[in-house]
Amino acid sequence: MNNEHGPVAVITGAASGIGRGLAEHAAKLGMRLVLADRDAAGLQTFCDHLLAGGVQALACVTDVGDPAQVERLRDRTVEHFGGVDLLFNNAGVMQTGYSWEITRAQWDRMLTVNLDGVINGIRAFVPLFLRQGRAAHVINTASLAGLVSSPLMAPYNVTKQAVVALSETLHYELAMLGAPVSVSVLCPGPVASEIMASNQVVDAAGSSFSQLLDGTIRQGMSPGELAAQVFDAIAQKRFWILPHKGFEPALERRVRSILEQTNPVFQMTDVEEDSHAAR
Ligand SMILES: NC(=O)c1ccc[n+]([C@@H]2O[C@H](COP(=O)([O-])OP(=O)(O)OC[C@H]3O[C@@H](n4cnc5c(N)ncnc54)[C@H](O)[C@@H]3O)[C@@H](O)[C@H]2O)c1
Repeated sequence: MNNEHGPVAVITGAASGIGRGLAEHAAKLGMRLVLADRDAAGLQTFCDHLLAGGVQALACVTDVGDPAQVERLRDRTVEHFGGVDLLFNNAGVMQTGYSWEITRAQWDRMLTVNLDGVINGIRAFVPLFLRQGRAAHVINTASLAGLVSSPLMAPYNVTKQAVVALSETLHYELAMLGAPVSVSVLCPGPVASEIMASNQVVDAAGSSFSQLLDGTIRQGMSPGELAAQVFDAIAQKRFWILPHKGFEPALERRVRSILEQTNPVFQMTDVEEDSHAAR
C-alpha cells in the first residue's frame, strides 16, 4: 500500500454512519482522505483516529448547504493533496411528518442539506475534474426513497428523487463530453447510523413513523458492509448502487402503476421488508 500516492477521496458527512464507513474502507484501500462534516468535534476525533493509524487524512469542517464552504473544501483539498479523484456527496438529514405540517424552515433545511449539498458539490468539483483531465468519480448518496416514495417523509423523498435525477443527468452530460469522469448514485435501504437524530418531529403521525424508521435503521446493514459494496461498484464504474435486496416488488409496483396509469398504493411492509433484507 502506497499512501503517499493513493487516490484522493473527499467525503461529506464523514463524521458518522455511512460517510464514516466509506472513509474507513477508503483508508484500507490506501486512499488519502479529506473528511468533511459540519460536526467539528466528531470530525476531528475521527480524523485523529485515522491519522494515528497512519492514514493521510485532512479534516475540513464544512456545511454542504453553503456553496462558499464547499468551494473552500475543494481548494483546501487541492492545496493539501494536489487534486481529487473521488467525491462522495453523502451528507444528509431526515424529516418525518405530514407534508403540510412540516414547517417552511424544516422544508428548507432538507432542501439545503440533501439537495443543495449535492448541487454545491457538483458545481465546485466537476469543473476541477474536467480540468484535471484524468479519471475521477462522483458518488452521490440518494436512498431507496429516491426510487420509491413513502408517506410521512415528503422532504426526504423529494430531495432523494432529485438527487437520482441530478445524478442521471450528470452521467449523461459527462458521457456526451467523453469526459473520463464516472458517476454513481447510491440508493441504500436501512443502514445502521445516527440519521434519526437529525429528525425534527412535528406531529403524532410523524412521531410514530419516526419510531418505526428508527428501529428499522438500527437493525440495518452495517456501514462497513455497505462501503465494501460501494467500492466494488466504483471499481466497475457502475452507475446504480443498490446494496439492499427486497425493494424490487415496491419498485416494480411503482413502474407498473406509471405504465398502466393506475393509482399508486403504498404498502407499509415495504419498509419492514427492506429491514429484513438488510440483515
Ligand atoms: N442510514 C440509512 O438508513 C440511510 C439510507 C439511505 C440513505 N441514507 C443517506 O446516507 C447519507 C448519510 O447518512 P447516515 O445514515 O450515515 O446518517 P448520519 O447522521 O449517521 O451521518 C450523516 C452525517 O452528515 C453530517 N451532516 C449533516 N448535515 C450536514 C451539513 N449541512 N454539512 C455537512 N455535514 C452534514 C452529520 O453531521 C453526520 O455526521 C445521507 O444522505 C442519508 O440520507 C441513509
